[in-house]
Amino acid sequence: MNYEVKNIGLAAQGMLNIEYAERNMPIMKKIRDRFAKKKPFKGLTIGLALHVTKETAVLVRTLKAGGAKIAIASCNPLSTQDDVAAALAKEGICVYAKKGESLQEYYRYIENVIAAGPNITIDDGCDLVTALHTKHRKMLEKVIGGCEETTTGIIRLHAMEREGVLKCPMIAVNDNKTKHLLDNYYGTGQSTIDGILRATNVLIAGKTFVVCGYGDCGKGLALRAGGMGASVIVTEVDAFRAMQAVLDGYRVMPVSDAARTGDIFVTVTGNKKIIRTEHIRTMKSGAILANSGHFDNEIDVEGMNRLWKKRRIRPFLDEYDVRGRKIYLCAEGRLVNLSAAEGHPSEVMATSFAGQSLACEYLVRNRDRLETKVIRLPEEIDNHIAELQLEAMGIKKDKLTAEQKKYLSGWKEGT
Ligand SMILES: NC(=O)c1ccc[n+]([C@@H]2O[C@H](COP(=O)([O-])OP(=O)(O)OC[C@H]3O[C@@H](n4cnc5c(N)ncnc54)[C@H](O)[C@@H]3O)[C@@H](O)[C@H]2O)c1
Repeated sequence: MNYEVKNIGLAAQGMLNIEYAERNMPIMKKIRDRFAKKKPFKGLTIGLALHVTKETAVLVRTLKAGGAKIAIASCNPLSTQDDVAAALAKEGICVYAKKGESLQEYYRYIENVIAAGPNITIDDGCDLVTALHTKHRKMLEKVIGGCEETTTGIIRLHAMEREGVLKCPMIAVNDNKTKHLLDNYYGTGQSTIDGILRATNVLIAGKTFVVCGYGDCGKGLALRAGGMGASVIVTEVDAFRAMQAVLDGYRVMPVSDAARTGDIFVTVTGNKKIIRTEHIRTMKSGAILANSGHFDNEIDVEGMNRLWKKRRIRPFLDEYDVRGRKIYLCAEGRLVNLSAAEGHPSEVMATSFAGQSLACEYLVRNRDRLETKVIRLPEEIDNHIAELQLEAMGIKKDKLTAEQKKYLSGWKEGT
């Protein structure tokens, strides 16, 4: 059997969801039609470790239309949409993913993807590439290059490059403007709130909403929480970002101070142990904790489990008894938007995954010419994605006149 999913019987529902997503991702259809004609991935295997969602399924089908053989595992034990995984399996894709899979299963599924012998990798968080570089170096000989979807993965890849251990070119798809300016900002902003609401159904208006980390994700989240009537506090370690948060109208303070006043806390830093047990001890009874950063180490869940009793209140919500005070943790501290909700809306993932599709094509076209480092997709490809997306949205914009182009590229004309 070349798949491992929770229930293959869910395939029909999964296909309905994939088709629904596809309708909101017209840019992917355009790319798929072109790939179907040109077959850029003929004879190649693409190995993926991504959240197995309906939008990821659209990416998988796009790459498959381009001639690739696909093997995919989840990049998070709680984010798989089981109906979608079943639909992919039914279509003959090697898919290994179950919502709620154990850590052993998680790593075994990544091994399955590696066993398929990928020529290109697509990662969200760098676990696939890390496994290749640590346990399966021989398999790296086949790899043309890889693509990375998220900030945390890019941080790890840069560390590998600095240590001189990176063995193939890696495209930082996360760094496309059409990825992080849309996905991290608008996507995380909306879907994180969606995840918290589905887990808790609390009223956001009137609450004090603490956003830890004011990067692209944190900015989007603060904007949406404020828009729903919350009073927003930001915690930061970077002076510029802290200043930006103040000028955007938010209060900025250390997490130890925010802990005492917040009602809802969300971590989106890509760093570890941001909210620790010493902070949680000072929180109000009823405080809600959630994480939307890539890994489940931003809130000290291990410490919480060691110190305090918990009970499951409803799906994706645990209540901890902190010396009589009740503290609520969403989705076990894993990405709340993908665990308790469905991740980013399809419209957002359309440009992220257009970037992944075109990055794979770029790797193939430029094989043997790319440096073994973390590279950016050329700006013209990024701009092309934005043009395609605008076109798909039916929006027209202005074009530079010849005179304006000349003016912008010259230096002699002044006041
Ligand atoms: N939930 C999602 O769907 C989703 C989507 C995109 C990215 N991500 C993940 O979210 C995380 C953040 O991504 P980003 O693109 O906003 O990253 P970013 O690097 O732009 O921003 C992170 C911010 O956190 C700050 N920070 C670091 N340590 C801190 C600390 N101890 N206290 C307070 N602030 C601290 C940094 O200074 C930075 O400003 C990453 O793990 C990324 O992979 C999640």
